[in-house]
Parts: sequence; C-alpha cells; structure tokens
Amino acid sequence: MAKSAAIYTLGCKVNQYESSAIADLFRQAGYEIVDFEQHADAYVINTCTVTHMGDRKSRQIIRRASKQNPAAVITVTGCYAQTSPGEVLEIPGVDLVVGTKDKSRIVQLVEAYSRGKGPVNAVDDIMQTDCFEELPVPTEQGKTRAFLKIQEGCNSFCAYCIIPYARGPVRSRLPENVLSSAEELIQQGFQEIVLTGIHIGAYGQDFTGKDIDLGWLVERLAKLPGLTRLRLGSVEPHDINNALIKAVSEHPNVCRHLHIPLQSGDDEILALMGRRYNTQQFTDLIHKINQIMPGIAITSDIIVGFPGETQEHFQNTLKTVERSGFAGIHVFKYSPRKGTPAAEMTDQVAPQDKEERSKSLIELGNRLAHQFAQQQVGKELKVLVEQPYEKDPNLLEGHTDTYLKVLFPGDTGLKGQMVRVHIQGVKESTLKGRII
Ligand code: 5AD
Repeated sequence: MAKSAAIYTLGCKVNQYESSAIADLFRQAGYEIVDFEQHADAYVINTCTVTHMGDRKSRQIIRRASKQNPAAVITVTGCYAQTSPGEVLEIPGVDLVVGTKDKSRIVQLVEAYSRGKGPVNAVDDIMQTDCFEELPVPTEQGKTRAFLKIQEGCNSFCAYCIIPYARGPVRSRLPENVLSSAEELIQQGFQEIVLTGIHIGAYGQDFTGKDIDLGWLVERLAKLPGLTRLRLGSVEPHDINNALIKAVSEHPNVCRHLHIPLQSGDDEILALMGRRYNTQQFTDLIHKINQIMPGIAITSDIIVGFPGETQEHFQNTLKTVERSGFAGIHVFKYSPRKGTPAAEMTDQVAPQDKEERSKSLIELGNRLAHQFAQQQVGKELKVLVEQPYEKDPNLLEGHTDTYLKVLFPGDTGLKGQMVRVHIQGVKESTLKGRII
C-alpha cells in the first residue's frame, strides 16, 4: 500500500506556496496526499510565528495530528520551527523539526528518520544562508491563479518583527528561473500569476554588480506572451521606485492593485518601529500612484498597540488611514516577539486597549473597503472568471484587477476567461453585475 502524507499550513501566502511544493515532493516520492483530518503515515505542520497566535495555533495543530495517528512521523517546519526548535521538540508527538531553508529536503529527512537514521532537530543557523532554495513550482490543477515565489528572507529588522530571524537574509530567485517558471505556468493554463516572497521589493538586492530590481522583473514578466494577469504581493513603501510604477502602469496585464504596508499612521511610532518613512512620505507616495493610475486599489497592513502607542498616536493612525483611501486593510494587534527590540520596550500597551483600537480600525477599514467597492457601481470592469459561486450555483465568481470579488450570472464554461461585467450593485465589498 502506498504511504500517505498530510500537510497543514498556517500563516502567509509563502507558507501556502511552500506547502504545495512539499506536497508535490511527497507525491514524487510515491506518497498519497490525504486530508489532514485523515489517518496518515506522515504529518507535516508548516508553522507561523509572526504573532503569538501563530505559535499557539501551530501547537494546537501538532497535538491534533499526534492524536490522529500516534504512530505517524510528525514533522514540524516553518517559521515557528525555525525560531523555537527546542520548544517545538518538547511538544508530545513531535518527531522531527525542519527549518525554513530545508523544505526541499523534507521527504528525505522524514524517510531517514523513519529508518532511525536521521536527525530529530534538523534546524540550523538561517542567518548564514546566502542562496535561494529551489522548490518545485506547485501547480494546483483547475485553478486560474498561481503563486510564484521570487524571493526569500528580509534584511529590514523592523523593531516588532521576528520574520528576519525565521527566514534569514534576502535571497532572490535567479531571473531566468522566475521567467521560465512563469512560462511553464502560462503553458499549464494559468491566467493569473501572483508574485510572492518575504520582502519582494528587495528583489535583486543580493545580485552584486547587476542592475536588477522588482520593477525590472515585472517589466519582463508582463511581456511574456499569454500572461493575462500579473499581480504583486506586498511591497514596502520605500521599495516603490519609478521603475516599478512604470512597469505597473504601462502594462495592462499588471493588476492595478498594490498592497503597501503602512504599519502606523503616526510618525513617532513609525520611527520607534524602525520604518524608513514618515506619514507625509507615505501619503505623498499614495498620491503619486493615484495620479498616475487613477482607480488603483491600494491596500495595507497596520499594527495597533505597538509599545508606547498612546490614544493620541492611535488617533493619528485613524486620520492617516482615513485620508489614504485604502481599498482595504489588515489590522494586527501588536504581539511581542522574543528576540526583537520592541519586545524589550517597557511601555507595552494593555490588551484591552489593543482590542478596542483594533475594533475601531477594522470598522474604518470596512467602511473604506465599501467606499472603494461602491465607486465601481455603473462601471464596466474586466473580470477573470474563477469558479461557480459557492452559495448560489447560478452565479459565477471572479475578481477584478483591483481584487474585488464580483458575482454575476453565467455559464461555468466561461471559467478561465476574461469577461466584461457591468457592475450594478455592491454588498459590503463584493460587487454584483451582468456580463456584457
Ligand atoms: N505583531 C503584530 N503584527 C505583526 N506583523 C509583523 N510582526 C508583528 C507583530 N510582532 C504584521 C505586520 C506585517 C504583517 C504580515 O504582520 O503588519 O505587515
């Protein structure tokens, strides 16, 4: 009987991408991939540690796997495994911990462990790593959108953030590999490619002597024949240069959507966070992008309750966010991460204050998202048809390039095609319309 493996993913898009690649590696080694709720010979938990919730959820899932099949090999990888291998190994049931740079070796490590020959703690120092670990580019059949990882690591060391310690320094994937993977994905029938990474705006920084950055790469990808849409993951404000703006604005297949993390709308807090811009510079950037690309969707991440954040600072964040016209925001409650400078700061914010600030910022975010969606009513928009709408099979669902979900009547045969939809209504931030 074939051996079986089950994978659970916590956290970000990069983790999801890498889990799909790990699943492909197990398949290549003859394993059958089963649902995580099923009995499996090997369980892999790809963890997250960006906040304490990541750690907590990771531990829960590990315990669940060990209850399902106490005889299974339980492997823990990802950011929590990388930063706290000892803590992870102490969780009952854990057999093997693998760091973030050895995901491509996971099947070998599992098999070596099963034969009683492998290490139990395979995590080593990530800070010394200097090359991009190649993994198979995962292809989930039948989807319209594919993710493509172009870069690993981060050198920014923002005061709150554990990720540089979990992912190591910036390593960019060679452009020829990125381009050939993109071509393969297009060949396989994907209409949309989403560029992911830990700090994609740092793309190329580690290629000494070459003039290669994210704008350069986007320019080349956008020109690939047959690529209907190219979408960018999160880009830091200081990484958005003219070359990138030019590449996004001049190629109609590059989505008019940028996710630009603001983190705080107060200058003192931004400085304490170690961010390299102030609110004026951020607002100017947004203004410039909007002037060049009217109607573009700009979304953002904001942390509430960073140490030292007073009500006044928070009010400044509300004002900056209000003025930004964001098409949506993700709100994070600050979580102290051991080993980061902010965790040592003395004026930590009380949990109930974080909770309240988070609630009011989420409310503002929802209002802005609704406003942005409302502006689309009456327009004719291009929508990439993705799948039947789960709650009503008579409707199809797809997204605009600005990443708004659109529902409309139509035939399932349209899947994967770009259609023009007349937008007639909006509920929260979902659009409804009819194909023209
Ligand atoms: N606490 C809360 N949120 C955090 N983020 C990063 N580190 C922390 C932390 N310690 C958020 C940032 C980042 C997003 C991916 O996670 O907003 O943009």
